[in-house]
Amino acid sequence: MKKILVTGGLGFIGSHTVVELQNKGFEVVIIDDLSNSKIDVLEKITEITGIKPLFHKIDLRVKADVTSFFDTNKVDGVIHFAAFKAVGESIQKPLAYYENNIGSLVYLLQEMKNRSIDHFIFSSSCTVYGQADALPINENAPIKKAESTYGNTKQIGEEIIAESCKAYNMNAIALRYFNPIGAHESIKIGELPIGVPQNLIPFITQTAAGLRKELSVFGADYDTSDGTAVRDYIHVVDLAKAHIAALERLINKKNKVNFEFFNVGTGIGSSVLEVITAFEKAAGKPLNYKIVDRREGDITAAYADTTTANKELNWKTEKSLDEALAAAWKWQQQQ
Ligand code: WQD
Repeated sequence: MKKILVTGGLGFIGSHTVVELQNKGFEVVIIDDLSNSKIDVLEKITEITGIKPLFHKIDLRVKADVTSFFDTNKVDGVIHFAAFKAVGESIQKPLAYYENNIGSLVYLLQEMKNRSIDHFIFSSSCTVYGQADALPINENAPIKKAESTYGNTKQIGEEIIAESCKAYNMNAIALRYFNPIGAHESIKIGELPIGVPQNLIPFITQTAAGLRKELSVFGADYDTSDGTAVRDYIHVVDLAKAHIAALERLINKKNKVNFEFFNVGTGIGSSVLEVITAFEKAAGKPLNYKIVDRREGDITAAYADTTTANKELNWKTEKSLDEALAAAWKWQQQQ
């Protein structure tokens, strides 16, 4: 049985990926510093799969602790989620973002290199494309100058991995996520935003639950079918499964080059108003919203060309936007 380290394994995407890894027979060891997650998630994962993952509360910025983890745990691969992820905050606190998102990555790769641990999966983002010139966005689209420090940490992260793969003959895959949403069908794990949600779906579900007065729709004057911005919303369980597909590609030595990157989305673009309509149907009630000005830094439209991921990872999405919104709503209701 292969043992996989999942950093940030108690977070939103991490916890769903741990479940899918266990379902596939991998042994999982989680590192999480609990800075944006709850320890209860460990119990919830155990309830879903019947297997309690190993867990270490470690801050990956502390190099000595990272080394000591690898001294005492033998792992066959690493899926690296642990990072700060708030776009706005990253602009206020760039050094904290570089220290955490870049420092941790470097320490992990150093330990992997020193111990010849080969398989590395990295959480990247569609933000690396900025506003792409052509839609849907394929992997050949140019990387544009990042709009935020957060986005820059993903771009730099990919460069660090690419150079390390080349120099040390390691193998890695970066998955460029589009917009992950939803919750596990068990409704035991889901997204736990701290404070006022910045992302669309948690803001919608909190508004429907009466925790927020109304949703502000940021801009209705975009060059799209209904004027609101378009994104590719992917069910978190489908996204989690892409990590297993990527890991298996590396384990089975099916990768074509040392460092590969794939777009992970559904291929379908949905406007904010389309998401609201679909949510109202899923929840069976109207949502209170108003149109306001555009949010600074937002792009008009982004959705994935999934051809390469479908073919190379032998993976495709199975869940619809409606299913993802229904799961997000159920999750919200039982909070
Ligand atoms: C979606 C759409 C908003 C909130 C995020 C991250 C990005 C990347 C992908 C990880 C936009 C609109 C939102 C609200 C609204 N993640 N909206 N009212 O901006 O596509 O990107 O996910 O790497 O880094 O920032 O996601 O959910 O914030 O917004 O109208 O209250 O919903 O303008 O069009 P976004 P989002």
